[in-house]
Amino acid sequence: MAKAKSSKPKRQWVCSACAAVSSQWFGQCPDCRAWNTLEEQIEAPVGDGRVVLSQRPAAPIPVTRADEIDEGPRRSCGIGEVDRVLGGGLVPGSVVLVGGPPGIGKSTLLLQVSAALARSVGPVLYASGEESVAQVAGRATRLEATHERLLLLAETVVESVLSAARGLRPSPAVLVIDSIQTIYSEAHQGLPGNVTQIRAVSTQLVSYAKSAGVPVIVVGHVTKDGQLAGPKLLEHMVDAVVAFEGDEDRSTRLLRATKNRFGSTQELGVFEMTGQGLRPIDNPSEALLAERPAAAPGSCVTASLEGSRPLLLEVQALLAQSMGGSPRRNCVGVDPSRLAMLMAVLDRHGDMFVLDQDVFMNVAGGLRLFEPASDLAVLMAVASSHMRRPLPPELVAVGEIGLTGEIRQATRIELRLAEAARLGFRRALVAKRRDQRKTTGVPEGLELCEVSNVREALEVGLGR
Ligand code: TYD
Ligand code: MG
Repeated sequence: MAKAKSSKPKRQWVCSACAAVSSQWFGQCPDCRAWNTLEEQIEAPVGDGRVVLSQRPAAPIPVTRADEIDEGPRRSCGIGEVDRVLGGGLVPGSVVLVGGPPGIGKSTLLLQVSAALARSVGPVLYASGEESVAQVAGRATRLEATHERLLLLAETVVESVLSAARGLRPSPAVLVIDSIQTIYSEAHQGLPGNVTQIRAVSTQLVSYAKSAGVPVIVVGHVTKDGQLAGPKLLEHMVDAVVAFEGDEDRSTRLLRATKNRFGSTQELGVFEMTGQGLRPIDNPSEALLAERPAAAPGSCVTASLEGSRPLLLEVQALLAQSMGGSPRRNCVGVDPSRLAMLMAVLDRHGDMFVLDQDVFMNVAGGLRLFEPASDLAVLMAVASSHMRRPLPPELVAVGEIGLTGEIRQATRIELRLAEAARLGFRRALVAKRRDQRKTTGVPEGLELCEVSNVREALEVGLGR
């Protein structure tokens, strides 16, 4: 009787960085040259397919210092602004969801990222369920995002995409799925984008990413109100969710992580949509202030912190006598309840009777002010519009305002002041330190105007 050869378990070593398979252990992966990444796997047959039965359990790691535990080498996307938002590049084996409204530039961005990775790392598989290969290739040509290792696939069946990815040697530097709403699993019922399909497709993508050590980027369309079209469960299944946003009638595009298992969610990437695709903006403060009107009432600049990066933003306010009924509060980029609080403070502690006014607020460039440190700029913009008097053009305002009208120092003030000075601001309206010590790290050429409360701020900024 012939010996059942296939019943013997097979030992092999799989690289955790590039998923290359070797028949023996090496200290260095013969494929991607990473050190100490080969892990033993024992495969045994089940039915007619080979299935991994056991994997040597990973040795427990004592937690001493957080930075000693590393998820492995990150892959630079070739675009600094994208790397920054991801926390320093793509983590092998991670799944990243890029969400944004249709037409914002998701496919453009990912094609540029794909081309950069194809150039610097290895093959990239870009699977589009939305456009034909000719359409994607046409765009890639226009963007000069072509490379022989950038492989396009027009495919809507996830099993086919994954079998193409598994067939690539070396394994892909990244797998891009454009989009989750157009791809489905043959093994499951229902239209692409429904709960069953999204769960089935993402399970397969996550399992491929983890087993092959390949980063997977998935595009997801969001609806007008910023919700991901389709079930929320997708956001729970992926490692990072990155939102791509911007104003339809402006060219500025913002990328920020709303979830990140491998990094912070505060970093912001800024781009401009041009005829040649997305251009990273290295100097966003300058770009955001470029269209600022000179000496206009209702405009105030603040130095905000987006993650580790200071950013100068222009807050605009327009007040108009309300035509009866309850006054309107129209806020873009400013929290309406924070504005209500600041208006009440201005009324009570600044003796400026603004509560019966319609108020329109805007932050230039489509950015949002989340930080309490922007309170002072919002309040000054409102007061300036009400008085129809412009603030000095070289003034920047930073500080948190409390309910008694007191002004408090913002965190990391020295970073903010340095950015203001770099862009030519000469005066900074900031909180007076309570401990009577001098604010240190004030850049040369920047005059500090320290104030303790709203009344003093109005006096210094608007001569009131
Ligand atoms: P796209 O990446 O297709 O958006 P999404 O995938 O998020 O739906 O980009 C759509 C818009 O971007 C489209 O209106 C054209 C514009 N665009 C440019 O302005 N410049 C370019 O180089 C490219 C490729 C697109
Ligand atoms: Mg698209």
